[in-house]
Amino acid sequence: MSTHPSEQAGQLIDGKAIARALTEKIGQDVAAFIEQGNPLPGLAVVLVGNDPASEVYVKNKAIQTHRAGMRSFMHMLPESTSQDELLDLIAQLNANPRIHGVLVQLPLPKQIDPVVVTNAIAPHKDVDGLGEVNAGRLALGMDGIVPCTPLGCLMLLKSVHKDLTGKHAVVIGASNLVGKPMAQLLLRENCTVSVGHIHTQDIRGLARTGDILVVATGKHGLVRGDWIKPGATVIDVGITRVPTHEGRTRLVGDVAFDEARHVAGHITPVPGGVGPMTIACLLHNTLQAARVTQALLKNGDAS
Ligand code: GUN
Repeated sequence: MSTHPSEQAGQLIDGKAIARALTEKIGQDVAAFIEQGNPLPGLAVVLVGNDPASEVYVKNKAIQTHRAGMRSFMHMLPESTSQDELLDLIAQLNANPRIHGVLVQLPLPKQIDPVVVTNAIAPHKDVDGLGEVNAGRLALGMDGIVPCTPLGCLMLLKSVHKDLTGKHAVVIGASNLVGKPMAQLLLRENCTVSVGHIHTQDIRGLARTGDILVVATGKHGLVRGDWIKPGATVIDVGITRVPTHEGRTRLVGDVAFDEARHVAGHITPVPGGVGPMTIACLLHNTLQAARVTQALLKNGDAS
């Protein structure tokens, strides 16, 4: 008896629903935090230039921040902004007690070094977790602020696997934004971790050994069905807008979804997988930053 292909497909991991539940919980936690006499958590988002995708992302961040009952501060700077001008703004945001989290949207124009900029954000306001203090804390297994996208990926993985101990996790892509912190997080969960990148020989062979496969390369459709170990859990971080035959556009991931879903045990769709989790985790990190600041103030440790 033949089986219909859709019956063989891996189960979808519904990032949209998981993010919605997390955002609702954060909204309740924010309300309780304010009820206890604390200030509204405030998130400042800085966008330099007019990259259309980044504009959509930062607007969504502002909308979700309001929805969760927090205060949003938006700073839209022209493409010609110098690094010093941006550093001046960051210094002001660092000093503003109404702001608990600061995020500078990446990528930045070429005259600005993203590493210098992310390191200028006060570590307790670095809600992206990309600065050297939080990145170092993650590498050392210490408490700190964890980058939003890998944190969201981990939450999605944990919606499938209660315990990740001993699993072979393959991360494809070694960026500071996703791949490197993802690898650190998976190590912290007792996985055996391999990181593949542009220079890896036989990347397909490596990918096929992963019980867990996290793909963050920005190359849409890179990972084909035969790159996936049967039954693996696949997390697709990629998000690229491509034209359709009908003259419109649609979002696609780094994984060739229609092939991969028949091999994977569980898989995230694009859109509706990792994307919604990133913003939910940003709200989570902002509330966490506000909590830490208030605790320090109560102990007389913060100015
Ligand atoms: N651009 C794409 N993703 C991100 C992110 O998570 N943080 C920042 N700051 N910029 C991004």
